[in-house]
Amino acid sequence: MQLCRDKTVLLGVSGGIAAYRSCELARLLVKDGARVQVVMTEAAAELVGPLTFQALTGRPVEVGRGGKLAASGMTHIDLGRDSQLIIIAPATGNTLAKLAHGLADNLLTSSVLASTCPVLLAPAMNTRMWKNELTRRNMKILSSLKRFQVVGPASGQLACGEEGTGRMSEPAELFQASRCLLGPGSLSGRRLLVTAGPTHEPIDPVRVIANRSSGKMGYALARAARRRGARVCLISGPTSLTAPWDVELVAVETAAQMARQVSRRLAGSDVLIMTAAVADYAPSRPARKKLKKAGKNLTIELQPTTDILAAAGKRKHRPLLVGFAAETGSPLGEARRKLADKNLDMIVANDVGQAGSGFGSDDNQVHILGRGQDRVDSLPLLPKQEVAEQILDRVERLLPGRRTSSRKRG
Ligand SMILES: Cc1cc2nc3c(=O)[nH]c(=O)nc-3n(C[C@H](O)[C@H](O)[C@H](O)COP(=O)(O)O)c2cc1C
Repeated sequence: MQLCRDKTVLLGVSGGIAAYRSCELARLLVKDGARVQVVMTEAAAELVGPLTFQALTGRPVEVGRGGKLAASGMTHIDLGRDSQLIIIAPATGNTLAKLAHGLADNLLTSSVLASTCPVLLAPAMNTRMWKNELTRRNMKILSSLKRFQVVGPASGQLACGEEGTGRMSEPAELFQASRCLLGPGSLSGRRLLVTAGPTHEPIDPVRVIANRSSGKMGYALARAARRRGARVCLISGPTSLTAPWDVELVAVETAAQMARQVSRRLAGSDVLIMTAAVADYAPSRPARKKLKKAGKNLTIELQPTTDILAAAGKRKHRPLLVGFAAETGSPLGEARRKLADKNLDMIVANDVGQAGSGFGSDDNQVHILGRGQDRVDSLPLLPKQEVAEQILDRVERLLPGRRTSSRKRG
């Protein structure tokens, strides 16, 4: 569905090194049917030629205070007023500071001041600029205003060669956030609970029993569901991943903590997707102090943890339940057993022993089994983000007509 069709979007580009990445964002918006008017600050026009944006959008680009606009009889007030969405990508420390204080000294900042539509901000700058107390204060002001949605910045290698937070979010992520702001998605009005990552079960204050789950599959699902307009709560074990835009992140460590957080939110959710690799066993009595090396065998007693999905499946009123079965070797037998025993609606099975698929990898080759169906949907090896879309397509087919979170189950 082209959510941007016939929508007018003002794409503001300020003078960050990431300005060139906004060309891709302009392309995605145009492809999705938006009328895109680009406004660049003078600093941005020194980094990327306005002609590039003009070629991508098919419209003359305004730079600085705007000149072409005045020639057509429009004023600085019209541009923002006629837009359904303003995106500022990249948003420099300088432009963010101006917006936070209501300054309007160029066409971009005056368009924001003279409009009421949502504004999507994609900050991008050197880590020290981002962490600076002044930028912190400016972001606090902007984040407190309902009109402004902030996406990113992400962490990683910055253009200046340093590592840290300050990288502009991916154009695809900004595009999806724009779609959410422009129109209702296919999961709009639904609440999804997604679990992700491993759990850490303490042996002593410094050691844990963990597993190799990276959390990528769960984060991809949370991102995809949010893009489709759902309210998403992501309950995550320890990972190195950044929470997707506008997803509520609940960070947990142990299986018991995850079980508690899921149980607390189950009644208000339409769907629970359990991608987390929850420990099946945890040390019965974690040591209070670090265990010393004694040079002889050590026995640690383990006790089973709560089976979160099975507990959810036993509830009288329960959301749609989607489980994951990560097995080494053919996972189908175990997946069928879990689907029936835990009273699930769908299960996604994969062979984590397969090279390039499953834990830690960016790709996954999965089989999807539905309740009461003999058929198995075996997907090819796909990026996890694409697997997430495929799973959500099937979740959506099961959802229509189902009442939010209060259905009686047999
Ligand atoms: C090559 C180059 C790259 C820059 N990259 C950034 C950046 O990524 N983020 C930022 O906040 N400022 C960056 N700056 C500084 C801004 O361009 C400068 O603060 C400018 O005044 C911003 O003006 P504007 O907000 O009106 O675009 C960069 C400057 C240069 C010369």
